This record gives sequence, structure tokens and C-alpha cells, in this order.
Amino acid sequence: MSDPRARLCAALDLPDADAARRMAEQLGDAVLWHKIGLALAVQGGEALVRDLKDAGKRVFLDYKFHDIDQTVANAVAGAVRAGADLVTVHAVAPVVRAAAAAKAGSATKIVGVTVLTSLDASDLEAEGWRDGVSALVRARAQTAIAAGADGVVASAQEARMLRELLAPGAFLVTPGIRPAGSDAQDQKRVATPASAIRDGADLLVVGRPIVHATDPRAAACAILDEIDAALAHPAPR
Ligand code: C5P
Repeated sequence: MSDPRARLCAALDLPDADAARRMAEQLGDAVLWHKIGLALAVQGGEALVRDLKDAGKRVFLDYKFHDIDQTVANAVAGAVRAGADLVTVHAVAPVVRAAAAAKAGSATKIVGVTVLTSLDASDLEAEGWRDGVSALVRARAQTAIAAGADGVVASAQEARMLRELLAPGAFLVTPGIRPAGSDAQDQKRVATPASAIRDGADLLVVGRPIVHATDPRAAACAILDEIDAALAHPAPR
């Protein structure tokens, strides 16, 4: 049976790299994947990537690159050199193409961010998009994959649709994961760990339910148990 630790990524959303380093130590061998987000980009993120890689961890560098081709290419090349296993870019064709070309030959995966899990249909409407969240996630996911992305980031609420839409090898990353009964906070398209796994997500990103827990390691282990149970009893398709 597959290791549930390969399916959980703890988002180290802490004020600086030292706090993130301490959290990674506290989580210990319970957690394999760690996500480094934008806040750490200007506060020691690159050194943290190297330290986590030296400690045998998998690193998701979630800076959501979106810039001109050359700048994206340089940024991705830097992420690859630092050892990132997974890198996010916006799901816009030229951006994805530049990232995919820059990572060529490395094992680093490029994933395209479709629609932030903190947005819902009314947020999109305010920007002039009236066709709902799913249609935009679909369109951006197809754009990202066609431009050379290894996968996409979306809510687990769209996981089943994306599994049907995309080729089997597409890597599906789902933030906005909330164990039953926990506070959604600023996330709007949430799902439980079990439903994300059953609907076909590859990697579940969990931040505050772990790093703000009284006992982060115990919180991570409880999520791993839920993932393990869902892997053992997949829902019929
Ligand atoms: O604390 P929480 O579990 O909500 O953290 C989710 C993490 O996933 C955050 O670091 C956030 O930046 C990231 N993320 C997201 N939605 C996306 C892409 C990334 O919430 N579409």
C-alpha cells in the first residue's frame, strides 16, 4: 500500500525561515513534504529549501511565479538548483512554457495554479468572470497541461472533474484541506483529507490545521491516518 506521507504536504506558513525550520523539526519524520510559501521568499526561503533537502525532505516551493518569459525561466532555474521538487507558476500559457523549458531535464515538477482556494464564484464575478469556478479551473488546467506543466493546483472540490479531464499522469495538488469540524479561515473551497484522496488528489496541502495546532505532529498524524484509511477504502467511481 502507498505511504500516506507521500500524499501530505505541510505548509510551513510561519513568520520566517527559523520558525519554519523549528516547525519542520517538530514534525520530524511524520511529515515528508514541506511547502515554502511567498512569505519566506524574502525571509530565508532558499536556504531553507537546501536545509530541508539535506534532511531528506521533499520541498514544494510555492511562490506562484508570474512574469515575463526570461524572468520566469531564471526563477525556475534557481528553484531547480536549490533542489525544489515542486514549483508553482500561474496557469498562463507563456509562463508555463517558460517554466517547463527552464526545468527541462530535472526531476522538478512544474504545477500551474488554476483558481486560488480562497476564491469562490462571487469573487470571480467581481472580476467579471460569470461562468463559475469549475469552468475557469477547467480552462486554466487545460492551458497549463497543454503548455507543458506536470500538473495543476486546484481545490479538492474540483479533483474528480480534473481527474476525468486530464491525462492520468497529471499531478494534482489540492490546498484548502480541512479536517472535519476545523475552521475554514480564509479558504472558501475546502474539502476533508478523505474526500480529497477519494476524488483523486495526489498531494494534499495543509497549513494552519497543522502548524497552528497545539500539537502539530499529532495533528499531522491524525490527517495521515485519515489519508491512510481513504487509500485503503477508495470510493467506487
Ligand atoms: O493554512 P492553509 O491550510 O489554508 O494553507 C494553505 C496553503 O496553500 C497556503 O500556504 C496557501 O498559500 C496555499 N495555496 C492555497 N490555494 C492555492 C494555492 C496555494 O491555499 N490555490
